[in-house]
Amino acid sequence: MKILSIETSCDDTGISIMEVHPAHSDGARESATNASFKVLANNVSSQISIHIPHGGVFPALAKREHIKNLPIILEKTLKEAELEKEKNPIDLITVTCGPGLEPTLWTGITFAQELSKQWKVPIMSVNHMEGHIFSVFIKDKKKFEIPEIKYPILSLLVSGGHTELVLIKKWMDYKIIGETLDDAVGEAFDKVARMLGLPYPGGPQISKLAEKEREHLKEVENFLGPRFPGSLSQPDHKKSSTSSHAKISLPRPMLHSKNFDFSFSGLKTAVLYLIRDINLIKKLDQKTKAQIALEFENAAIECLVHKTAKAIEKYKIKTLIVAGGVSANKHLKNEIKKITTAKAGQAGSKIKLLFPPKELTGDNSLMIGVAGYLNYIKNKKKVPEMDSVKAVGNLRL
Ligand code: KG4
Ligand code: ZN
Repeated sequence: MKILSIETSCDDTGISIMEVHPAHSDGARESATNASFKVLANNVSSQISIHIPHGGVFPALAKREHIKNLPIILEKTLKEAELEKEKNPIDLITVTCGPGLEPTLWTGITFAQELSKQWKVPIMSVNHMEGHIFSVFIKDKKKFEIPEIKYPILSLLVSGGHTELVLIKKWMDYKIIGETLDDAVGEAFDKVARMLGLPYPGGPQISKLAEKEREHLKEVENFLGPRFPGSLSQPDHKKSSTSSHAKISLPRPMLHSKNFDFSFSGLKTAVLYLIRDINLIKKLDQKTKAQIALEFENAAIECLVHKTAKAIEKYKIKTLIVAGGVSANKHLKNEIKKITTAKAGQAGSKIKLLFPPKELTGDNSLMIGVAGYLNYIKNKKKVPEMDSVKAVGNLRL
């Protein structure tokens, strides 16, 4: 069967077509995991350039762009999949219904409903965060299957709107065991970037700046030896605060709280005050910006990694999935790998670590197609009434 998928939850307009060959018996977990997926076409149109002047996503503008882009991208996608001349090219439509910006979600849903009427095919609505979880199995431009997965699974979902730890004890059964109490980590990256005068979306910009500074400190350490004050070999942030780079030290909110929740709003405000104080004595130069970016990234990632490691211990996790836009962050990847490498040495503690391919860390419709198809099979091909599909901005897993 051919699946057309639509993603419009924020500022990326995504449409893709996949061909799915189901396994022999439908309805069970095994049939879904044995299914073979082939990407026929995948397009994402980013609206970044439109939102840059606003320093973030402006919902009304995003909606207008989705409405303009959807028919153009559909035509392109059908052409690339060589289906443009078919009368009934598609067997199932999957569309994101939340969480996200309601006005933009509605554009995707309305578009899906129109196509559904035209082609007389069912619509499956999909939770965007479930899509991010399944993004780790996708191979763009290739055939792929969902492999056998060892349980329990822990998923760290990190994006512009979400920061959550999800426990998965059985197939497609999700329990949020921890989440941010205020800002999402990607949102904090974006806001701090804005304070530093970096363009939207700030995550990759902060990361680039931080990475350069980290490299620089490593070079200094190699040259002067690990005892150089402020070197990277300082075991924790408290020590680095007494170093020559001491001026810049940021808090790690909720690092030692007993639960698995996060908080990034205090960290963001700490950066705001830090910049204000620096501005009182000197101009915020490029070097100081890089030091702030590095310390902010270290603090934010330390919070994510610490709670993830704690959850791995408590729930005896066998598979760790890290997904969402922030999973593209190099420092997060490296720090997460350190946890799983340490566990690999302990008998019976080996953890399979899964990240999405770099090009699918951000929002895309392929992940919506996979999650939609798997739900379609799980629900024994029962789909919601077409007119009942609606946008739910704060939809939970
Ligand atoms: O999943 P996503 O594309 O959209 C949402 O569902 O929100 O995530 C976007 C978020 C943005 O906040 C962006 O700044 C952040 O992911 N991001 C990063 C990096 N790449 C994207 N944050 C930190 N480091 C990165 N390399
Ligand atoms: Zn997302």
